[in-house]
Amino acid sequence: MNINIGIDEQDRQDIAHGLSKLLADTYTLYLKTHNFHWNVTGPMFQTLHLMFETQYTELALAVDLVAERIRSLGVNAPGTYKQFAALSSIKEEDEIPQAKDMIRLLVEGQESVVRTARSLYPVVEKANDEATADLLTQRIQLHEKTAWMLRSLLE
Ligand SMILES: [Fe+2]
Repeated sequence: MNINIGIDEQDRQDIAHGLSKLLADTYTLYLKTHNFHWNVTGPMFQTLHLMFETQYTELALAVDLVAERIRSLGVNAPGTYKQFAALSSIKEEDEIPQAKDMIRLLVEGQESVVRTARSLYPVVEKANDEATADLLTQRIQLHEKTAWMLRSLLE
């Protein structure tokens, strides 16, 4: 059945493509954070193990919101590691980093997601897609706050 929500086909495709990048970034950061939860060592173990758990749990819930917004726009959501690797701006580590490097890498990851989300505003505003704008604002707020909390551990 045709979609008739007041956003034309091209704009829905463009917004969904941007959201797919946001989904890939969020999923990649989710996996990185869970990986670090499992493998962190050192005197900050307890703090970081628990902090990373809070963060990956939030990210695991967030990917669902982003994917379902893409579906609401009438487009298929990416859902494979291959698609995520092609779409994500966050690179993966081959080795297990030291605890402090984990924190720094997660700050960079959180900031990457913020930049990806922010880059969508022009097309979203052009299409008057307030629902997506609202989702982006919520995600940016959360990622900026988490980046601040992680950054504070390094100061
Ligand atoms: Fe755990």
